[in-house]
Amino acid sequence: MNNELKVPNHIAIILDGNGRWAKKRNMPRGYGHIVGCDNLEKMCDVIKDMGVKYLTVYAFSTENWKRSRAEVEGLLKLFRQYLKRCIKKAHKNQMRVKIIGDPSAFPQDIQDSIHELEECSKDYDHMYFQIAMNYGSRDEILRGMTRMIEDVKNGTLAENAFDENGKLTEQCFESYLDTAGIPDPDLLIRTSGEQRLSNYLMWQLAYTEFYFTEVPWPDFHEEELRKAIEQYNLSLIHI
Ligand code: FPP
Repeated sequence: MNNELKVPNHIAIILDGNGRWAKKRNMPRGYGHIVGCDNLEKMCDVIKDMGVKYLTVYAFSTENWKRSRAEVEGLLKLFRQYLKRCIKKAHKNQMRVKIIGDPSAFPQDIQDSIHELEECSKDYDHMYFQIAMNYGSRDEILRGMTRMIEDVKNGTLAENAFDENGKLTEQCFESYLDTAGIPDPDLLIRTSGEQRLSNYLMWQLAYTEFYFTEVPWPDFHEEELRKAIEQYNLSLIHI
């Protein structure tokens, strides 16, 4: 990486365009997800080598269950394989991996793999890798607030949850989100042309710089990442 470029501390990515990438090559959508998954593994290393501390990717949204049965089954198969490979990668990169979202909707073997991956990597601090699976911002906020209400009922809400005007603090609210303890993203990248958030990290992206590109996720390599970081650096000049 160009030494003059400031590398974001936290990059969030919406991995979009696998299906269209495959269709363009007369291949099934699932093939696009397989190539997208391979690219994620490569880009995770590239991003680590650049010195980025936090990476958060959107792998499966709460809305993705509505896709065809075949596509969902294909994605679940891919997660099964990927989560196992990711254990090796976590050790190699000394990377803490955390799943954000609600894993309870996944088959038990996937939930077990998630638990194993999170447990085996929990003491690493070289890089922090968050994978959003069955994630949606609205769902995250509702799950978090349900837990907060439980704490109110049980009398276990933190004493400093409210400020001097009686308003709930941001710190308290954030502590109930899946991303508790993780700094907000500095740069959001969405591949493949769409310019919307799709229920991704809506609270956490309040001050984040957005980078949209036409390039589909399977083709988003180091050179494209460099362009995103260059634009991020331009935005810093305007602050
Ligand atoms: C969006 O492309 C992508 C997804 C719904 C899944 C993302 C998954 C991967 C990159 C691979 C697996 C990831 C992990 C962490 C194992 P799309 O299907 O919406 O593409 P389209 O917009 O062209 O239809």
